[in-house]
Amino acid sequence: MSDSYLIKGGKPLKGEVILSGAKNVALKTIIAALIFKGDVILKNIPKINDVLDLIELIKSLGVKADFIEKNTLIINSGNLKSNRVDLQYGSKIRVSFMLFAPLLNRFGECFVPNPGGCRIGARPIDRIIKGLVALGIKVDYDPETGYYHAKIVNKPKGKYRFEKPSHTGTELLMMIGLMTDKKVVIDNIANEPEIDDLILYLNSAGASILEEKNKITINKSSELKQKESFTIMSDRNELVTYATLAVASYGDVTIGPIDENLISSFLEIMVRAGAGVEKISNYKYRFFYQGEIKPVNIETSPHPGFMTDWQPSWAILMLKANGSSVVHERVFENRFSYVEELKKLGAKIDFVKINVENPKIFYHFNHEKNKIYQQTIKIQGLAELHNAVLNIADLRAGAALACAALLANGESVINGASILERGYEDFVEKVKKLGGEIKKV
Ligand code: EPU
Repeated sequence: MSDSYLIKGGKPLKGEVILSGAKNVALKTIIAALIFKGDVILKNIPKINDVLDLIELIKSLGVKADFIEKNTLIINSGNLKSNRVDLQYGSKIRVSFMLFAPLLNRFGECFVPNPGGCRIGARPIDRIIKGLVALGIKVDYDPETGYYHAKIVNKPKGKYRFEKPSHTGTELLMMIGLMTDKKVVIDNIANEPEIDDLILYLNSAGASILEEKNKITINKSSELKQKESFTIMSDRNELVTYATLAVASYGDVTIGPIDENLISSFLEIMVRAGAGVEKISNYKYRFFYQGEIKPVNIETSPHPGFMTDWQPSWAILMLKANGSSVVHERVFENRFSYVEELKKLGAKIDFVKINVENPKIFYHFNHEKNKIYQQTIKIQGLAELHNAVLNIADLRAGAALACAALLANGESVINGASILERGYEDFVEKVKKLGGEIKKV
């Protein structure tokens, strides 16, 4: 099966991109649908590899799930018959560990493998497991099989405070809280807008979830039943990919629909970099080249900061900046798999060391004292980019490499298209519509 892109770069990209639904909402709403009674209809679900893999996984558990239109999915978990997630599926898709929630809800006990997913650091789930235990769930791990065995002894109750916020952790514990007879409080939560969308979906079906600044309270909820279909929010990560590509290619692209609150920190930094940013309507933005791109340093952080998923795209824009800039990754380790690949195109990028006073607090991953980390790169802009053969190691790096090839002179081959397509719907078609020369080979 073809798993590479052939890309001929060098053209300014122009036109319009209609955003797909957010991957990181689609996956969670599908998993949560297994807690609902009756049919669940989800709209704007992107047909991306992660979603298709998750659908295969839940079907293997007996759930019915079918697309009835291109992006409308109908799910019915009436026949959910297994409380064991198959290793083959479970290790392929990281969010499979979130199945703890619907499986415990249905069976009171389940077996879930240690998660797989993108290779962007160790990505342990220690804080999440601690949270399950704090809410009263018994969890054992068998290192020989790689499986967690979770069991509900008493209905979840009480309070858990994340030592450091976790996005999927917040979502999983919130879904566990739906089983409470009393009250569950989760503190020091992540504030990503994707979590708000999940809350909206659950509350519209009978959940009682209240979100205050850094805290979520779940009171005894009614049985979840959908009253009307739910449309998930647009993918803000996809917007950032196309917006940076538009400006870096000296082009002009309108993108939407998107809510300004989801991308405000990105818009602010684009303006600082001298990019043309115009609000066309409440839900549509135009991004265009309007002269010299200025170097702007960024540091990633959870919402409302500059998102970790955006930094590979930012590095691509900075390849075209007049000067040098720094990208400092705080959320994940190993999120620079694209650096060595970009060098093959002629990019001038180096890892640099930045002294951080208290790395244990500063970084969001579990920082170990004697381990060597590479969390910062320096990009020297305006190096001549030529063609090369590149390899994709993780999703966002994949998008960055494909975009870099679109800026480079000559024909490049990018291997690992299926990794990029875990998170980008119709990538080839969308790029072609903007005038980019790309095909699957
Ligand atoms: N972490 C731990 N222990 C835990 C939980 C998290 O050490 O128990 C660490 C992680 O390894 C990471 C940091 O804490 O270094 C933050 O992790 P978090 O749990 O917040 O991230 P996540 O839930 O694994 C989600 C998205 C990511 C997105 C981040 C940040 C999904 C499926 N994934 O990951 O999306 O970058 O939140 O918003 O929602 C992507 O789409 O490409 C992607 C990686």
